[in-house]
This record gives sequence, C-alpha cells and structure tokens, in this order.
Amino acid sequence: MNKFYITTPIYYANAEPHLGHVYTTVCADAVARFHRLSGDETFFLTGTDEHGLKMLQTAAKQGLQPKELADTVSAVFQSVWRELGISHDHFIRTTDPGHKSCVQKILTRLEQNGDIYLGRYEGWYDEGQEEFITETEARARNYVAFNRKPLIRFSEPSYFFRLSKYADPLQKFFQANSAFIQPAERQRDILSKLQDGLEDLSISRASLSWGIPFPSDPKHVVYVWIDALSNYISAVDYGSAGGRWGYWPADVHLIGKEILWFHAVYWPALLLSLGLPLPRKIVAHGWWLSDGRKMSKTEGNFIGLDKLRTTIGKYGVDGLRYYLLRAAPFGNDLNWLDSEMKRSFLELSNVLGNALNRILRMIHSYRGGVLPRAGELTAVDDALRRKAEALLPKVKQAYADLELQECVLAPLDLARAVNVYIDETAPYKLASQLGGSDRLDTILNLSAQAIYQSLAALVPALPEKAAAGLQQLGMNASELSWERLSSGLPAGLRVADGKPLFQVTKRLY
Ligand code: MSP
Repeated sequence: MNKFYITTPIYYANAEPHLGHVYTTVCADAVARFHRLSGDETFFLTGTDEHGLKMLQTAAKQGLQPKELADTVSAVFQSVWRELGISHDHFIRTTDPGHKSCVQKILTRLEQNGDIYLGRYEGWYDEGQEEFITETEARARNYVAFNRKPLIRFSEPSYFFRLSKYADPLQKFFQANSAFIQPAERQRDILSKLQDGLEDLSISRASLSWGIPFPSDPKHVVYVWIDALSNYISAVDYGSAGGRWGYWPADVHLIGKEILWFHAVYWPALLLSLGLPLPRKIVAHGWWLSDGRKMSKTEGNFIGLDKLRTTIGKYGVDGLRYYLLRAAPFGNDLNWLDSEMKRSFLELSNVLGNALNRILRMIHSYRGGVLPRAGELTAVDDALRRKAEALLPKVKQAYADLELQECVLAPLDLARAVNVYIDETAPYKLASQLGGSDRLDTILNLSAQAIYQSLAALVPALPEKAAAGLQQLGMNASELSWERLSSGLPAGLRVADGKPLFQVTKRLY
C-alpha cells in the first residue's frame, strides 16, 4: 500500500481561526480524502504553533499565561475543524511533551554535526512574522515589518545554524527537482533569491522564556520557526523504528505563500543537516484578499468565525467547501464575495442536485424505483457514457497536480451534461408514448451512471453531500473506492425517492 503524508502549517494559537486557515485546511482535507479513497495509507497532519514572542505578548494583553491562551485557542481550532468535517489523523500542539523532546533531539543532532555555534545576533526582527531580517532585506523593506509595523532592532547572544553552508546544495537540489515547489514560478523566485547566498540563521532567543529550552544551554529557547517546522517530523515520531516514521518524507506540505521561504529554505536545510530525505512537494497557495490586501488578524480585515458560521448556517459545510475550492484556480489569490458564495451554492443545487433529483424521480415514476439495464447505445448516449468514464481519470490527475478547482468543476461539468442529455432525450415524452421501451431504460441507466460518477468524484471535496447523494442512488460512500467505481451502478439497484440535496430556502435571499 502506498503511503501518503500531507500537512497544513501549524497555526499560531494566539488568535481564532479565520478564512485563511480554514481554506488551507479544507484544501488539505480534500486531498487527504482523495488519497484515502485511492487506497493510500494516508496521514493528514494539522495543529497549533504555541511558542514565541507573539504568544507571550497576546497572553499578556489578555492577562493570561501563554499556556492558558494556547489551550483555549488550540481547543477552538480543534472544534472548528470538527464543525468543518476535517479528517486529520493527528492534531499536534508544539507544547506537547513529545514534540518538545523531539525538538531537543533535533537540536542535539545539529550540534553534533557541527552546524550550530554561539554568536551574537545584532539586527532586525519582524515580530508579527517571528522572523529575523537581514540588513539588506531590512533596507529593501524600508525597515517595515510584514504587518506594516516597524521592524524591531535587537542585540543578544544567540546560537546560529550554519544556513550559509546549504545555499549551494539547495540550489543544486532545486535545479534537479524543478517541480519541488508548486506553482513553478514560486520555485523560480526562491532559486533566484538563493543565488545571493544565505546568511547563518539565529536559532535561539536568550531574552525569551516562552519556548523549548536549548538542550545544551537552557537559558536560551529555540527560535519559534525551528520549533514549528520540526512538527512535521515530530508528529511522525522522528527517527523511531517503524510506526509513523514510515510516513516520512511528507508528500505535500500545503502552505500559504507568505511562509514559503521558511518551508523552502530553512526546512530543507535543517533536513539536509539531519541527513533526512526532503519532502516531495511544497505547495504554496494564494491569499484571500480584502480590498487587495491579505486578510489577516493584524489588518483586522479577515472573515472570522461568526461570518463563517453564518455562512455554514445558510449553505451548509459543503456549500462553503465548494465555494472555497472553486473560487479561483489553485495558487491564485482569492476574493470573498457574498454574491459568489450564493451563486456557487445555487450552481450546486441547480446543476448537481437537480440532475440527481430528476433522475431519481423518473426512476420512481417509470420504473418503480429500480434502476433498469441499458440497451443499445445511440451516439448521444455514447457521448455521455464516454464523458462519465473520463471523469475519474481527469479528477485523479487534478488531485495529483493539486489543481483543486478542477477537482470540483469537472464533476459539475458532467452533471451539467447529464441535465442537457435529459433535456435532449426527453425521457418524460418517451414514457408517455412508449411505456416500457428499451430506449427509456437506456436513458435512465446512463444518466444514473453519469450522476453516480459525478457524485463519487465529489466525495473528497464535499464528503457529506456526495455521500447523501450516493445513498439516494443506493450506494454507500463509506465503502467506496475508485476501483469499485469503475464497475458502475448495478442494474436492479433500488434507489431512493430523492429529497433535494441542496435546500434553496428563502433564507438565502
Ligand atoms: N505558525 C506559522 C506556521 C508554522 S508552519 C511550520 C504561521 N501560522 S499562521 O497562523 O499565521 O497561519 C499561516 C497560514 O494560514 C498560511 O500559511 C495560510 O495557510 C493560512 N492563511 C492565513 N491567512 C491567509 C489568507 N489571507 N489567505 C489564505 N491563507 C492564509 O504562519
């Protein structure tokens, strides 16, 4: 059995999840579900990032200890993931004792390899991003942080990781693995930045108490990004014999584009130093924007839990998931529009829900709820059959390429074709003219087969609605596998007298 390991970033536990976090997690969830359906032994990891200055500052503002803040916010993330039907196999917290000892083990290894030395950090720090900024970079940014606040200057003793040593090996790696970072233009950006070389990285903070103590010098805590990146191996029991360690290297690190440098440069350099294989792919998606700016907690321009929950109340979890996945080609920036949210829900209802409902009603009216066998095919039948057969291979490829928009658009496209086919072949006319004709059997069978393929292909993206639709067709989604799908719906199957899958009520208007 193939193993498949996918991760989201671990989210800062200083604030509740918003649309951006939900987006990454829903995308990763669809991919994980797809792999499970393909029979891969899948491990899907998400979690919360709970150390660092930002946590300390937020907790202080709220009169809390950082661990109290982390406990509260991490619990909110976990409950929101449950509300959204996220199917992660593990939720890691960087305050987990197992993670802490793993980070210390990693630091000890790096030290043993001679990649760590004590120096003094003199320079700039972006507090929002928890990022050390080089002088050149600081000048280029006019000493302004990512969140538009001023960069902070500080000077303190610090342990350094010999990142500079890895500039060359990383360049060679990127040149030899041109599809490592997706989208490809992001890999080109990283490669061109690497050509300027790398400075060693400060990886400890002496003035901070909230973090994992440096194993050889506990007055220092480990820099929060080193702590955070290590989650990807600590969650799979770094270095253990057997067990979860068999999942490493990860197949996909799914992240937002603002944290690509950490994942594409720091993380591979650390792994090279540890002598571990690098992840297979790093995929950096675009941002949800508001008035052209990235939605974020700091900007205060984000879509938060209240709005997300109202949206779910109106359109259901799968209504929201569909909108997120279809909103733009994967990788592009995105804009939330209430009108588009509604439009995409109506598309689900008018195209997918409607096709399924029409078919079920006809099978009930004309064939007593039992799926008839197909007879001889005409050209128009054959065209639909071929379109239906082509869907799964197309969606499989789209998941492999992380073309997530295509993963939902292609099944809808087939459902649209089913509606057109029903309009063109007009089975209701046939029923009144020729009662029990083979022709009617064929049309009913082919349209049911096609909508079955469409629903099945939507199982990873819209798990609840696709399963409900399949159940109406007499199939059990939990027993579904891509292989079983190719044999189609068996004739003689009893189908339900379908209720609309998507309720369009006055509330939506
Ligand atoms: N804790 C770090 C990640 C460490 S991973 C080893 C962090 N956390 S975060 O809470 O700020 O979450 C960042 C992630 O949230 C982004 O990478 C992205 O996945 C998601 N998003 C946050 N805002 C976003 C948008 N406006 N749009 C899309 N996704 C964004 O960074």
